[in-house]
Amino acid sequence: MNNSEFRRLGYELIDWIADYFEHVEGFPVRSTAKPGQIKSVLPQEPPAEGEALDSAFADFRELIMPGITHWQHPGWFAYFPSNNSPASVLGELLSAGLGAQCMIWQTSPAAAELEEVVMEWLRRMIGLPAGMEGVIQDTASTSTLCALLSAREKTTDYAINRAGFRAPLRVYASEEAHSSIDKAVKIAGYGIENLQKIETDEAYAMLPEKLENRIKIDLANGYKPACVVATLGTTSSAAIDPLEPIGRICSQYGIWLHVDAAYGGTAALLEDKRTMLKGAEAIDSFVFNPHKWMLTNFDCSAYFVKDKEPLIRTFEIHPEYLKTGHDAEVKNYRDWGIQLGRRFRALKLWFVIRNYGVEGLKAMIREHLRLAALFKELVQRDNRFELLAPVHFSLVCFRMKKEGASEEELSLLNSSLLEKVNSSGQVYLTHTALKGRYAIRMAIGSRLTEEKHVRRAWELISEKAPSLLEQ
Ligand SMILES: Cc1ncc(COP(=O)(O)O)c(C=O)c1O
Repeated sequence: MNNSEFRRLGYELIDWIADYFEHVEGFPVRSTAKPGQIKSVLPQEPPAEGEALDSAFADFRELIMPGITHWQHPGWFAYFPSNNSPASVLGELLSAGLGAQCMIWQTSPAAAELEEVVMEWLRRMIGLPAGMEGVIQDTASTSTLCALLSAREKTTDYAINRAGFRAPLRVYASEEAHSSIDKAVKIAGYGIENLQKIETDEAYAMLPEKLENRIKIDLANGYKPACVVATLGTTSSAAIDPLEPIGRICSQYGIWLHVDAAYGGTAALLEDKRTMLKGAEAIDSFVFNPHKWMLTNFDCSAYFVKDKEPLIRTFEIHPEYLKTGHDAEVKNYRDWGIQLGRRFRALKLWFVIRNYGVEGLKAMIREHLRLAALFKELVQRDNRFELLAPVHFSLVCFRMKKEGASEEELSLLNSSLLEKVNSSGQVYLTHTALKGRYAIRMAIGSRLTEEKHVRRAWELISEKAPSLLEQ
């Protein structure tokens, strides 16, 4: 492709994306493709000769689009959001155009320094303690893995990096913590049996006294507590673990405190949501995902540490071929995480923050919180339904009730309701289990969602309910 062809098709693609933003509502939110359907229409052999990209673009529209689930649809209420924005798409495009590999400062000083500046902006924006420093990772899963590896090394005086695993170390997280904690515990070599799941209260938040009891028992049995993971906004119900008492316990026993605020962290843009950060001085590491609820397209995870030394000591490498004359004066982010090669993610984040401004981002969060409060009220006003968790952010957990029905029957009833609602193609909600109860999750956070979409979701839910209740 020559440059003039690139220019022509590039403008065409931007037009297509702009049209997509405008008309995404016309697609069924969840793809209706059956397993194997997309594969079956694609050739098994790669083309031997190159072709004009126009034909690949036509195939994209015809063959690929039917297998796309539309995360930017205004009826997106599934999982958590992963919202994007025109500003982030353009930032992503520019960084692809530059094609810079930003592993160390010297391989693009602007990438390293913009990342430093933008992460400091973010720290201030969500009210984390002064002095915490940030780095962009791909996902919260990777950020948490970095935290568990740093905690492992700090607890053992960096012995495991040197000599391999010996001491039986323990990690603690609530029974509602995300599966990425389990995965990181396995990968980091702790062994899944050393992940202690701590009981939660009726609002699904970790019980600090249960945590302390568990730590005492472990110490008496010769285990070394290495890390506690507290969650601000759990995946199932957006529960908030009480940071202050958990932090006190961590400080008392000398345990690394990692906070997983992958979804909930963005809400801390609003001062009145910062109560969840009370006790933040005790945090050793903290992750939240601008790629979830802060208009920055996937992937972009913000990882902050109180003290960068354990992070860098865990990950640093100094091969001759990467040495430069500036290593003592600059940040080489290759030593702040797992991979060597790094994308220029700070660019899209910078574009988003500049384009919306802090006030614009706050306004979006406020609106999503308002819509969630409205949906909560609609559920509460209808006695065929019940709420299953407090609504702290923009997630509402609820279910349909039925007199005398067992948990199993309620689970079947509500999963049928969910399927009926989702097959409308207008909305997409997902489910979870809360202390053994089937719960439907309504997670609001798409950039394009308006009140009418939330009301439409409720209409669909209440329209489908009677036929199921009569069965
Ligand atoms: C609380 C929590 N932590 C971690 C994750 C994992 O995020 P990522 O996909 O960035 O690894 C999620 C995903 O929804 C989450 O809800």
